[in-house]
This record gives sequence, structure tokens and C-alpha cells, in this order.
Amino acid sequence: MNDALCYLNGEFLPLSEARIPVLDRGFIFGDGIYEVVPVYGRRLFRFDEHIARMGRSLAKLRIANPATREQWLERCRTLVHAQASEDQLLYIQISRGVAPRDHVMPQGLVPTVFMLATTMKPPSAEQRHQGVACVTARDFRWERGDIKSTSLLGNVLARQISADHGCVETILFRDGMLTEASSSNVWVVHEGALLGPPKSEHVLEGIRVELLRELCEDCGIAYNLRPVSEADVRTADEVMLSSATKEVLPVTKIDGEPVGHGALRGKPGPVYGRLYEAYQQAKARMSI
Ligand code: PDD
Repeated sequence: MNDALCYLNGEFLPLSEARIPVLDRGFIFGDGIYEVVPVYGRRLFRFDEHIARMGRSLAKLRIANPATREQWLERCRTLVHAQASEDQLLYIQISRGVAPRDHVMPQGLVPTVFMLATTMKPPSAEQRHQGVACVTARDFRWERGDIKSTSLLGNVLARQISADHGCVETILFRDGMLTEASSSNVWVVHEGALLGPPKSEHVLEGIRVELLRELCEDCGIAYNLRPVSEADVRTADEVMLSSATKEVLPVTKIDGEPVGHGALRGKPGPVYGRLYEAYQQAKARMSI
């Protein structure tokens, strides 16, 4: 790995020189939060939405936001401009800080802030053209999926199930209802409408949840957040994933079965096609 510039606790330094104390609560407890902001042409996509969600995650952990929006923006821009590639992923992590090990939240700690911009690895042309395969699993993670926490063991275990099957994602069901995937939101299409699960403590409110609502409105596609059953997923006309890295990505096989019906069975569908195009236009419009 090339020795990229990173940010740690007020300093910009080469990644190979960045160090944190082993008693950092991020290391000991996974007691922290993170954000992943996509960057196109060195411009931050939906920056304000990401920073607002970061603030909500921090508030849920009772960690005071250690910087203003302007300070976050300035740091992000410094990292993005130091990176060789135009399209990047900007990672921000904030942990509660360093303290003797005790489950109770210590007061008055200085949060540890780490930031790194890496080259974006978008889905391949083949994945966009053919769609991707996913598997399903019971959602065995904890009940606070709404917090973008660095405690990601449940997500890591879930993702590995699909990796072991040579698949791109693990779609999760809790009590027979769709929640999300290990690191993406999941969408289904029925009768031309884009459907996703409602906001809850079981699902991360992806930045693309609101973005897709806007894009659907622009495209005249009905959009509805409502409980989505496992049967809704398995009988859908189309299924797709969304995330900072995947943007929108068509799922054409689930547990080895092709998705969809008729001539489009096992192929990316028209709603995906329109949303993908609209997403590309939004990238130019909405970056700062
Ligand atoms: N993952 N759900 C989970 C569990 C996620 O980890 C993510 C994002 C999403 C989609 O959120 P957004 O649209 O804001 O990227 C949903 C990031 C990219 C990651 O962990 O790398």
C-alpha cells in the first residue's frame, strides 16, 4: 500500500507513522463511529448529509462532535487533494478516546479522530451489466443497526457468508422481514415501484435512502418505505443494493436463483437502469 497522507488527532501524517494507544476504546470496545463519503473528481458527494449522519451517530453514543462542519470540510479537502486518484472513498472514524478499561463511559475524554482517503474501487463494468449474486442469512447482528458504529463484527460475519459463496453481499432477514445487507441497503421493485424497509433501529439510514427518494421523484418512479417480507424479496421483479461504493447495483441472483420474471429473469431491470443514469447525473449536481 502506498503511504497515503492521513489525519490523526489534529495532525496530517503518512499512514505508516500513525499510531494510537492500545487503550483506545475504539480498539478495546469498538466504542466509536465512522463515515464513508464517496468522492468524485475530488469533490465530496453528499458531504452535508454524511456529516449530519455522523453527528447523529455521535449523539447516540454521547460523544460530543469534536469539530465544526467547516473544520470537517477543510480536513476532508486536504486529504482528498493529497490523494493521487480523482475518485476516492473518504473514511472518518471517531472513537470515544483513551481510558483504563471499564464498560462505563468515562467523562471528559478527548475523542480519537482518524481520517483517510483511498482510491475508490467501483463495481466492475461486468457487475453493472450482468448484476451480482447475493446470499441470504438471518440478521443475527445487534439491535442498533441505526448507529454507524465501528463495532462491525456482526457485519463482518454476515459479509463472510457471501464471500465464502463467491457472492457480493449477504441479504439479511429479521423475523421474516428484510432489514439490509452486511454493508448495503437493499431495495426491491414490485409493479414498477421501488420498495425498501422503513426507518428503524435494525437498519442503517444509508445516505442513498434519501437520495434514491429524490431520484425516484425526478424519474417518476413510485418510492415507498414499508415492511418488505422475505417473500417480497424472492418474488421481486428487481432487487438492488445501494451504498457509498456500490451507488445502486443490480442483484440478479439470490441463493442461486435468478431474480425477476420473463425475459428479464436473471438480468438487471429497467428501474435499476433509470436510477443508475439518474445517479450519474446527481454526482455532477450535488458534490461540493
Ligand atoms: N457501508 N447498511 C450498512 C450496514 C452499511 O454498512 C452501509 C454502508 C449502508 C449504506 O449506507 P450509505 O448509503 O450511507 O453508504 C447500509 C459503508 C459504505 C461501509 O461500511 O464501508
